[in-house]
Amino acid sequence: MNKKLEILAEKRQKAMEGGGLARIESQHKKGKLTARERLHFLLDEGSFQEIGMLVSHRSTDFGMEKEKYPGDGVVTGYGTVNGRLVYVFSQDFTVFGGSLSETHAEKICRIMDLALKNGAPVIGLNDSGGARIQEGVVSLGGYADIFYRNTMASGVVPQLSAIMGPCAGGAVYSPAITDFILMVEHTSYMFVTGPSVVKTVTHEVVSSEELGGANTHATKSGVTHFACSNEIDALQHLKKLLSYMPQNCEERAPTLPYEPGNESRPALTDIMPLIASQPYDIREVIEEVLDENSFLEVHKEFAANIVVGFARLAGRSIGMVANQPAFLAGVLDIHSSQKAARFVRFCDSFNIPLLVFEDVPGFLPGTDQEWNAIITNGAKLLYAFCEATVPRITVITRKAYGGAYDVMNSKHIGADMNFAWPTAEIAVMGAKGAAEIIFKREISTAEDPEAKWREKEQQYADIFTNPYRAAERGFIDEVIEPAETRAKLIQAFKMLENKVVNNPRKKHGNIPL
Ligand code: COA
Repeated sequence: MNKKLEILAEKRQKAMEGGGLARIESQHKKGKLTARERLHFLLDEGSFQEIGMLVSHRSTDFGMEKEKYPGDGVVTGYGTVNGRLVYVFSQDFTVFGGSLSETHAEKICRIMDLALKNGAPVIGLNDSGGARIQEGVVSLGGYADIFYRNTMASGVVPQLSAIMGPCAGGAVYSPAITDFILMVEHTSYMFVTGPSVVKTVTHEVVSSEELGGANTHATKSGVTHFACSNEIDALQHLKKLLSYMPQNCEERAPTLPYEPGNESRPALTDIMPLIASQPYDIREVIEEVLDENSFLEVHKEFAANIVVGFARLAGRSIGMVANQPAFLAGVLDIHSSQKAARFVRFCDSFNIPLLVFEDVPGFLPGTDQEWNAIITNGAKLLYAFCEATVPRITVITRKAYGGAYDVMNSKHIGADMNFAWPTAEIAVMGAKGAAEIIFKREISTAEDPEAKWREKEQQYADIFTNPYRAAERGFIDEVIEPAETRAKLIQAFKMLENKVVNNPRKKHGNIPL
């Protein structure tokens, strides 16, 4: 028995060493942790159970049969994060550059299958040179097996991807299908084709960091939801993100204990600027209304004219979507519509109620927006809200203009409760523009056109630059004092706790992509 135990211990030890000490050192020198170190920081202490530690590749070409490492470049298994089950895979760059072989892919698929059957999130820690070049098409097949499972698991269990090294070529499409991507600044990058191919094809000279680093994807493409300053920061973000989510689409997110207290927030009374064209930071409203320090902003650096993220209200997980008057006046454009639509769909998939703060002057005009399909992209957000069956509440703080009024979770498209502050302006457009159009002749023929314009602007403003027309119609359920917002929302979300809506049966909808 002792001899057999020795053999087992030896094999385990070999697996723990990955590609060997020299390669581990080189990994550390790059400012990166190893696959196992990452799991150590991610999972509750002692909770990790490895699956497939001794799996090795089956490749025989190019002398590969002589070069085998137990685990084959990926550590897979399950464990807990804050006591809740998660399935994980962590690619080991020290073994063939973390490249994906047939068996490497099989190991990932195995934990994805278990996650789906058992209803728990999948977390992927990616650090890979892509397809195992020595295996050719077999490796490509392995990717496709993963992509298929990513798609089948989408909306069933949360899937989170942290990119902690290279992620290039076909490899990018697994994270892309998952719900959230986190990248580490300066040590990770994602692109379909790298700088050398870019140079050959388009003659552009660009570095890896510039082409597909964390900051590029956080600000320009929106591919990543978080750009983290280092790996530990990324792993902590993963844990925090998970805390707002249920284990699967049949469950509700965990609720934190909540002691009812004085829910009045008088500071909100003074947030709104005196002049309607002046900006304010909607995050101040969010911070004041939601539970203290509970807001985790998603996609912070991308499309800053809309703010999305998770928060808690009276201990319950909430998905926040808010126009941001402090950036581009909070206008809706292509990127902000895409950003918010995907977030709304995530929340709806996983039973996370939605709260909308609305202050939107409309859609961004211009050829750039029209030619790049603001019509199709704006429709994504509209569609996402329309089909969402979770409890949905809107608070109109100021502007709710034009089509954007409809899109931003209006009552007409299924919101459950709509509140407005007394500062709300619910109209087809601003009073100045409206007067110019509908009183064009009167203004142009007036003795003093400027004075006439002002008079007509005032007339239009008196009727529509307030929330009362909409309230008379019941489009607004209640006009509330800003200070009452938190209390009203706590009550309303509690009232909606058991909401059930069944949309018409269908194979699936056809969201404008
Ligand atoms: N298949 C097999 N082995 C790979 C690999 C792959 N796709 N990518 C990297 N490796 C191996 C390297 O041969 C090297 O092995 P070694 O430790 O025995 O020397 C090890 O992984 C580390 O690679 P290295 O190139 O030294 O690391 P780096 O940090 O300098 O560069 C990459 C990393 C990812 C930029 C570079 O390895 C690369 O370009 N890989 C190929 C990417 C690719 O074209 N993939 C296929 C298309 S998806």
